[in-house]
Amino acid sequence: MPILLKLDEIEPGMKLAANLMNQYSMLRPAGHCITDRDIASLKRLVPDAVISIKDPFLDALIDFHDDTKDYEVSRRSRQSMAKVAGKISTQLRDGVTLDAKNVAGLQQTVAEMMDYILTNPVTNAVIERTMSWDDYLQEHSSNVFYLSLLVGNTIKNYIKAERERLSAAKVVKNAMDINPLATAALLHDIGMVPLSYLYSKAEPLTEEELEKVRQHPMVGADMLPELIDPMVKLIIKSHHENNDGTGYPNRLPGDKVNIFARIIRVTDAYSSAVCDKIYKKARHPAVVLHEMLYSPVSRCYDPVVLKVFAGIVQPFPIGAKLLLTSGKWAVVVRYNDKKPFNPKVVVAYDEFGDPESPQVAGVVRELGSSPDLIVQSYAGYDMTSLQNDSYDAELTDLDPKDMFDLHYP
Ligand SMILES: [Fe+2]
Ligand SMILES: [Fe+2]
Repeated sequence: MPILLKLDEIEPGMKLAANLMNQYSMLRPAGHCITDRDIASLKRLVPDAVISIKDPFLDALIDFHDDTKDYEVSRRSRQSMAKVAGKISTQLRDGVTLDAKNVAGLQQTVAEMMDYILTNPVTNAVIERTMSWDDYLQEHSSNVFYLSLLVGNTIKNYIKAERERLSAAKVVKNAMDINPLATAALLHDIGMVPLSYLYSKAEPLTEEELEKVRQHPMVGADMLPELIDPMVKLIIKSHHENNDGTGYPNRLPGDKVNIFARIIRVTDAYSSAVCDKIYKKARHPAVVLHEMLYSPVSRCYDPVVLKVFAGIVQPFPIGAKLLLTSGKWAVVVRYNDKKPFNPKVVVAYDEFGDPESPQVAGVVRELGSSPDLIVQSYAGYDMTSLQNDSYDAELTDLDPKDMFDLHYP
């Protein structure tokens, strides 16, 4: 099975378990034997990456969940959307205003990608960090597009089922059109294009700059041509409104905000926190998701959207090598849908990094289920914040009625 290793844990002679991709192309194929030169070049290109390496010891012992397809779908969607986002940013920077023709071309790509995602359903959304990007906005917009579409599809399916139940109709067509969500997710931050110099500013923003940032939802909506679906503009205008009414620009409470904007509020916060910026280093998705769900910041997000989102992104990917508080190492082999912070793991390596006996390493256990199974860190990120009271909080089943109310408040 694959094991995810940081670059400083990788040694020459190890073999890649999956294709190693950068933004647009394959750097090395699966099965490639890593050399000293590869390690040096990766350290330069993607210093924080974790790389999927074949682990022959665990291969012989464990039946693991294969998420290769999840990675493929995620990468392909985000790559195409990054191209579109990059083209739009360049045009806007060159002073070209977006006209109906630009937007029609963009909507065509959006529709193709929605189709692709629909016909290639994924178990989980993975946003891997082995790719280096030209531009933060490109990476961010394509991530928000992908995550929002997965959340939107899930909610759409719940609503369709609830409508069918209520109407006694066998099949309800088009319960919810998520096209405006997809377009808005891709374009949500175009109002930041004129302000993109702020992303590379290391010092804190001045009050004047902050005020400009607070206006980016309005500025972005105004940059779109008149002909665009008015709902797209509405979503972009309110993608920073918080559920408790503390957001900007209008401090609207959740029930006054379009459901699609509430989805982007969640995917945007997550995507922004897990990507590097000049002024702020990326935080690990597990820490970010835990904070969004269980800390006071959760008041910013629609609780049902948040729950759907937490069912789609996994804190720890398959193959994650977790350092336990016992000093031993556990490897994630399967997800736990109800308790995402408690995936199924095997304790594969001892305190010295040597393989445990097959009798120990071959037993699948639940992370957090006993005092010797508490995670300390992963890939150099401190995970102790996950050890608070709500660490093992369970995500209860979603009630389709919640979704229905959410869509028609
Ligand atoms: Fe934004
Ligand atoms: Fe954003």
